[in-house]
Amino acid sequence: MKDPRFFEGVDPAELAAAYGTPLYIYNERVFRTRCREMKNLVSYPNFRVNYSVKANANLTLLKIAHEEGLLADAMSPGEIFVEEQAGFLPEEIFYISNNVSVSEMAYAVERGITVSIDSLSQLERFGKNFPGAAVSLRINSGVGAGHSAKVVTGGKLTKFAITPDQLDEARAIIQKYGIRLAGLNQHIGSFFLEKEIYLEGVHALLDIAKDFPDLDFIDLGGGFGMPYDTSSQSRLDLEQLGKALDEVFNSFAASYGKNILFKIEPGRYISAESGILMGTVEAIKENAGRLYCGTDLGFNTLIRPMLYEAYHQIETWPPRPEAEIHPYTVVGNICESGDILAKDRPLPDMQEDDLVLVHDAGAYGFSMASNYNNRLRPAEVLISEDGSVRLIRRRDTLEDLIRNFP
Ligand code: LLP
Repeated sequence: MKDPRFFEGVDPAELAAAYGTPLYIYNERVFRTRCREMKNLVSYPNFRVNYSVKANANLTLLKIAHEEGLLADAMSPGEIFVEEQAGFLPEEIFYISNNVSVSEMAYAVERGITVSIDSLSQLERFGKNFPGAAVSLRINSGVGAGHSAKVVTGGKLTKFAITPDQLDEARAIIQKYGIRLAGLNQHIGSFFLEKEIYLEGVHALLDIAKDFPDLDFIDLGGGFGMPYDTSSQSRLDLEQLGKALDEVFNSFAASYGKNILFKIEPGRYISAESGILMGTVEAIKENAGRLYCGTDLGFNTLIRPMLYEAYHQIETWPPRPEAEIHPYTVVGNICESGDILAKDRPLPDMQEDDLVLVHDAGAYGFSMASNYNNRLRPAEVLISEDGSVRLIRRRDTLEDLIRNFP
């Protein structure tokens, strides 16, 4: 079972009555704790954490991340816009662009936001249009990791980044346009629970960075995992990872000749465990010998299980420890057979109107939600450390569904 203190004494049934379901519920204490854990990962003096807001870009959560002293990554002008609304200054934002138009580049450059460039073609385009501006180069140092092939962003099977054999050409483009190379960055992929693969990526990147003498920063990317399945996964050992990173940072700084700024880009680690997706059981049925628990949690609310076969722990509310356990296939209300949250999951005898709590849904949950089937995206509430609850995003309305039509 997950930590019961999640709710700060708040009863999920009361939240369901007040706000309805599907509902994203966030725990401020957990969110802040994860921000601080990342911030304190190392003792090296020049270290910053970019929150990768694609994991969860709720404005209130972004304000909290900013308050906690985090910086922010952006993958689009939309993310830049929302980060600015949350109080992030241009120098606190890093635009990690990928196959973007000149006007998207301009959106960042005009604000003084550093842009990461991830191909020679885009570097040429950047140089032509913004000669003299600063960039960071996104490097694929050959190391990749991730919970699914779909989220591995380093190595041979990915569209991302500039490979080491392209660096001479990159240097030539940089010189041609008088571009200032401010940093190097990488992201090996999303989700690792053992430090070794991340460190391998760090070493590979630093081996490249040592040949670029005037960098302001080196950004090592995100991917820090947390246990979705507590029966088989353990927590990432941050102490061990931090210690190892400290050694690498200090020794690199000594040979580089300055305490260069090191950054990381965690997304999931910051927000996943702070969020629960709550739904309601609407039907129980048996088809061809399989027991189905039909809920209002269609894949428009949480697409991770359908997209990546991702595991999320599911609990029923109220808890019924004495009830008989059955294997339920937990499904949603979308008109596709793949609309499955969990297959043959052992759960206590379920009944209509029970609540289901889907754990660790705070990252890539709401941010990947959609209006498919013209379903309304869920509301989001935040539980503060004193147990008070506030609505931090209203549920879509039917009017929202036609707002953009002429
Ligand atoms: N930096 C860059 C350049 C990224 O592309 C990403 C994630 C991150 C940092 C943050 O990665 P994290 O620390 O959250 O692992 N939708 C997938 C995950 C996609 C990640 C995409 N990039 C999922 O639900 O598992």
